[in-house]
Amino acid sequence: MAHTLHALRQAVAGPFHDVPVGVLEGRVTGLTGLSVSLSGMRDFTGVGDRVSIIGLDGRETEAEIVAFRGDTAIAMPFGALAGIGSGCRAMFRLYDQEQRRRRAGGTLVVSPLWQGRVIDPMGRPVDGKGPLPPGGEPCRLHAPPPEAGLRARLGPRIDLGVRVLNLFTTCREGQRLGLFAGSGVGKSTLMGMLARNTDCDVAVIALVGERGREVREFVEDDLGPEGLAKSVVVVATSDTSPLMRREAAYSAMAVAEYFRDQGKSVLLLMDSVTRFCQALREIGLSSGEPPATRGYPPSVFAELPRLLERAGPGLAGPDGKAGQITAMFSVLVEGDDHNEPVADAVRGILDGHVVLERRIAEAGRYPAVNVLRSLSRTVPGCNSVEENALTQEARTDLATWEDIQDMVRLGAYRAGNDPLTDKAIQVAPVIEGILKQSRQEKATIAASFDALRGALSASRTSR
Ligand SMILES: Nc1ncnc2c1ncn2[C@@H]1O[C@H](COP(=O)(O)OP(=O)(O)OP(=O)(O)O)[C@@H](O)[C@H]1O
Ligand SMILES: [Mg+2]
Repeated sequence: MAHTLHALRQAVAGPFHDVPVGVLEGRVTGLTGLSVSLSGMRDFTGVGDRVSIIGLDGRETEAEIVAFRGDTAIAMPFGALAGIGSGCRAMFRLYDQEQRRRRAGGTLVVSPLWQGRVIDPMGRPVDGKGPLPPGGEPCRLHAPPPEAGLRARLGPRIDLGVRVLNLFTTCREGQRLGLFAGSGVGKSTLMGMLARNTDCDVAVIALVGERGREVREFVEDDLGPEGLAKSVVVVATSDTSPLMRREAAYSAMAVAEYFRDQGKSVLLLMDSVTRFCQALREIGLSSGEPPATRGYPPSVFAELPRLLERAGPGLAGPDGKAGQITAMFSVLVEGDDHNEPVADAVRGILDGHVVLERRIAEAGRYPAVNVLRSLSRTVPGCNSVEENALTQEARTDLATWEDIQDMVRLGAYRAGNDPLTDKAIQVAPVIEGILKQSRQEKATIAASFDALRGALSASRTSR
């Protein structure tokens, strides 16, 4: 026995092979909640390894090892647990060490011909448009971010095609922003506008934990044929396993990295990071981790930066340039609780945030971005001095208007008391008018600043 074990170890440590060097067989010893206990997996498997469980009907279900308890491996399946019983066979394919390193955490074969398609996290088409074109390159689902010192700098200003964002949260290529919003305040519409209007080569959209109906609505109404043509949409609906929902985020990231490494400018839209964290929470709790912050186990907050950090600039080439992933991660803030743990963690990691507010949506101003609460950390570095002066002036007017508007509406403010307030009363509604944008409209950076310049100079001449 010791001899065979030694021979097997030698084989596993041996030279590079493209095929598994053997198959390790184990058994299902128990099922609890969402997880499966497996015997016979010790010595050669580790956390993150994928095993196949053969159900009673002969079907193979892929599962991932998420923990160990003594000699027992705890795995979670990507599909449903139905048909898996105690005593079912489990298989783990053994590879040599080199191959194992390259396959760690799983791979996805990504093809440039995926643009225009909707896929699931395993890279299978879910849009009813037939099989995906063959070919592609294997990409690691859990690739580490490029080494900080070797990463390119952020690229030039990127035109998002949405006036309020171009003006008040101007973004550079490779920047990562959080989009904080409650339900029904226009998140999907804004993401669709960004996918259609942004000046990028490829858009990768991850829909994590949405309802099935919403996916079709998003693809057909918000994205439309024009947006879809340059997008790859990765979907895991709310009825899929937590592992699938988690994987949707990783698969989308792997697709974005693939295009970035070809030197492309990629826009990554992830809706939503909150549901990704909820999937991690389910996985963590099922593998026996204790709940910590509002039910989230500590591993969630270790994993989150690892995902978000992968977006951004790629490795710098000899000329200092690189492909870029400009990313927008949406965060659900229910009941206006902007201090909920996921929102807090995301805000700390990213280079800016855009806040959508129900109050603004209810007043009929879409996109319902609260300019005063939104921020991009690369501004003012990426705008001209004149542009910074314009946005600063507009922010001051909007802030003054926010403070005074109730008094004005009640008739408690008398015109002429304060020149700054008088100006804000006149100009803020005009700025608000500029920020309105219908879903079909596209507004370039130049046109956005022209509109703001026009509004502010009109207010100067009229006084
Ligand atoms: N730019 C816009 N112009 C006009 N109306 C808009 C705009 N954006 C959003 N809306 C309105 O807001 C509604 C909700 O938008 P949307 O579905 O994008 O919100 P959501 O935040 O994605 O909602 P959910 O949380 O349900 O997914 C739309 O049906 C539409 O009526
Ligand atoms: Mg939506």
